[in-house]
Amino acid sequence: AIDIRKLYSDADVFTFDPGFTSTASCESTITFIDGDKGELWYRGYPIDQLAAKSNHLETSYLLLYGELPNAEQMADFDKRVTHHTMVHEQMHNFFRGFRRDAHPMATMVGVVGAMSAFYHDSTDVNDPWQREVASIRLIAKLPTIAAMAYKYSLGQPFVYPKNDLDYASNFLRMCFAVPCEDYVVSPILAKAMDRIMMLHADHEQNASTSTVRLAGSSGANPFACIAAGIACLWGPAHGGANQAALEMLREIGTVDRIPEFIAKAKDKNDPFKLMGFGHRVYKNFDPRAKVMKESADEVLDLLGIHDNETLKVAKELERIALEDEYFIEKKLYPNVDFYSGIILEAMGFPTSMFTPIFAISRTVGWVAQWKEMLADPQSKIGRPRQLYVGAERRSYVPLSNR
Ligand code: ACO
Repeated sequence: AIDIRKLYSDADVFTFDPGFTSTASCESTITFIDGDKGELWYRGYPIDQLAAKSNHLETSYLLLYGELPNAEQMADFDKRVTHHTMVHEQMHNFFRGFRRDAHPMATMVGVVGAMSAFYHDSTDVNDPWQREVASIRLIAKLPTIAAMAYKYSLGQPFVYPKNDLDYASNFLRMCFAVPCEDYVVSPILAKAMDRIMMLHADHEQNASTSTVRLAGSSGANPFACIAAGIACLWGPAHGGANQAALEMLREIGTVDRIPEFIAKAKDKNDPFKLMGFGHRVYKNFDPRAKVMKESADEVLDLLGIHDNETLKVAKELERIALEDEYFIEKKLYPNVDFYSGIILEAMGFPTSMFTPIFAISRTVGWVAQWKEMLADPQSKIGRPRQLYVGAERRSYVPLSNR
């Protein structure tokens, strides 16, 4: 018999690393995380500085092209993105094929995947001009597509983009404006939405970004790659955690029930986890969670919501968990998703829209990483190996003899 284990040991290098906890799949110049210190930089700029001084579109430029834009470059980028915010009219028919009660993420996976059927003039990955157009199309159209998925689920008419608005305001208007009524976007909500988008814009080789890179490594077109990223993001251990975190906080309901849920999270026989806690890389406070917590306070305050039970539960849960031996020992801190749901709910979004908003925000990161991969002379098709632990070689037995 073949000694299967020997096959692996004969290879020059063979590592077995489930979940890729210590294997770098690429070199990248885009995002840096120091998980122990709780630091996150985009192209060298710390996230807290960007959150305080920049905006999502400027940060998108930075992620895509490596440097902050000057005024002329920014105006040109803004114009290019704005020019592409509309979706092909035929895509409206495509939306209508979905059930109204479909999760907006389900609709988005389908519609974004179908973009390659509507925009085949930008699917040639070997043509730099087509790559650029596809990138801008994705960044520009994702808010429109997410808003359309939302409107469709409500049975309301689609709201077209209004291109004199900024990126975040435009998205809010497409979600909340209704025909025959004036809708003015609150600058406070627009700022909070913009910050959520910026904080989620990139996060190095997380599951969805690795999915986009892996799909792209075969030469698949950009729309197919981003659709794959959206599908991966939907999982509750990744982008779906913001929906799950708010649902958990609501289920806890009041602060007196927190110890019961902490005990459940610590019980190894119970699959329950504190959603919005823990991170593969951060073993300290997620720097985005700090900004998000401040934003939650700001938004609720400015909306006049002073007695929000969910926020109270969140703050108390965080306080108790951070003093608990189990969470200290395992270095489990609140992540970005712990507070974002509270802000989104206060804005009027249903939980089902939380992950689509994450997808809009992460699109620029996915696109930047996909472009970096294509430009990297070292990159090759992603093809992980495995450690085979199945049956030894054996002979086929005819059905009549089994
Ligand atoms: N609640 C309770 N225990 C936890 C939690 C949690 N939220 N997270 C991790 N643990 C425990 C694990 O049970 C494990 O315990 P063990 O050592 O006794 O086996 C230990 O801490 C290490 O956790 P792992 O699951 O091995 O860590 P991993 O890096 O694989 O997972 C993950 C990270 C998926 C984020 C995990 O912490 C989790 O599921 N958290 C809840 C979901 C969540 O908030 N996801 C959002 C991630 S951020 C983002 O996508 C933007």
